Amino acid sequence: MNEDNNHTQDEVPDTTSRRTLISRIWVFLAAVGILEIGWIAGSLLRARKDNPFRKKDADILIEAGSIDQFRPGDVKAVPQGKFYLVCLENGSFMAVSRTCTHLGCSVPWDEEKKQFVCPCHGSSFDRRGVVLTAPATRPLDYYPLRIENGRIKVNAATPLKREHFDPSQAMQS
Ligand code: FES
Repeated sequence: MNEDNNHTQDEVPDTTSRRTLISRIWVFLAAVGILEIGWIAGSLLRARKDNPFRKKDADILIEAGSIDQFRPGDVKAVPQGKFYLVCLENGSFMAVSRTCTHLGCSVPWDEEKKQFVCPCHGSSFDRRGVVLTAPATRPLDYYPLRIENGRIKVNAATPLKREHFDPSQAMQS
């Protein structure tokens, strides 16, 4: 009798345990899928420039001088940072990129004209970097700066683009 029972159990497929195994595989595959979607979404979010958690580009701090070396209107080239340090008429400071926004030529300061004049196609800019003469249509980029103990420190890592001048682009001493 016992033997018969055992024989019957061996021959009847264990559908319950097979179903359990299949559903576990499905759960596992679903979990892998969810993890992959999460990983892809995280990568996309990290890549966005406006993501506040994105690692910032490494700062490149350049000490551009001392505030008492400048008088309103002064423009000083800072070759190691590819920018000009400008003291505006109100005594605030700006770090203006020397790269022309037309096609990227290096723009010298013309002390006589009191303008940046591009040698390539003639664009000119005032000391704030604002376009005076086309073909450039956009002001020169600028760099953030801060003043610590009278020393002007410019973060030359990434030039900031702009469509117009705003006083917030300059730092009051
Ligand atoms: Fe400066 Fe064209 S590159 S005007």
